[in-house]
Amino acid sequence: MQDYILEGNNHYKVDRSAAKDILHVFPEMKTAENANVMYKKCALQHLSSCGIRQFIDVGMGFSRSPNLHEVVHPDSSVIYIDNDPIVLSYSDDLLVGSSESTHCVLVDVTETDQVIAALDTTGGVDFDQPVALCLHAVLHLVSGERDPYGSVGRLMDRMAPGSYVSLTHYASDIDVESLAAVAGLCEKLDTPFYPRTLDQVLRFFQDWEPVLRGVDVASVAHERSVEDLAWTMGRHIPLYAGMARKVENGGKRS
Ligand SMILES: C[S@@+](CC[C@H](N)C(=O)[O-])C[C@H]1O[C@@H](n2cnc3c(N)ncnc32)[C@H](O)[C@@H]1O
Repeated sequence: MQDYILEGNNHYKVDRSAAKDILHVFPEMKTAENANVMYKKCALQHLSSCGIRQFIDVGMGFSRSPNLHEVVHPDSSVIYIDNDPIVLSYSDDLLVGSSESTHCVLVDVTETDQVIAALDTTGGVDFDQPVALCLHAVLHLVSGERDPYGSVGRLMDRMAPGSYVSLTHYASDIDVESLAAVAGLCEKLDTPFYPRTLDQVLRFFQDWEPVLRGVDVASVAHERSVEDLAWTMGRHIPLYAGMARKVENGGKRS
């Protein structure tokens, strides 16, 4: 659906039909998806400028340039993860021109042991060094019953001080009616969609040091600089974006 909304080429009839229904009740989704693209680019450039050279991109989706490995520092290792075999079947498109330290893995983020095993198999992540865990537009596809907090938390526990987590997530407390309509439609279509409140989204960051919290992604698009941003809470677009850093004492802020 996302690919259709962003006018990409990797979508099926069923995606187009669902996306059209969703755009009918929530036309701003196109703006939100474009803001997600803008936020990701700013966030990844910021992480690279902070010296991060290892990236785990959960919920990679279909190839869409610029892909993560095209934005971050060229010496970076990048592990793309997705639980959809169709997405993985297109990974050759994504990997065109990438370095040997870029890998794609079919695994579900809620299966933490399998995620760790898959990451170990690629040899692309040294958990003794800082890592950026990217969770862009994926956690609102994971229901509470599947324990997204526990799954993400176990990965974050493995990460060294100086690591980052960056995410975008649809809001359930902004433009409430439209998002409820989308969620209702998705339920009928048997497509997962679980927007969350700001507090629920912030919970993913645990007690890591906020770099950006609940940022209004429209401001990111406007400002083009992650450092300049204040916490303005999804004022224009019901999509939260944020980033947090693990500090030396294991995430506990002093
Ligand atoms: C909307 S796309 C987001 C793509 C990209 N991250 C972005 O921000 O544009 C979400 C992707 O997450 C994947 N996904 C959904 N649930 C997942 C899970 N539990 N584990 C891993 N990937 C998941 C989907 O298959 C899909 O490719």
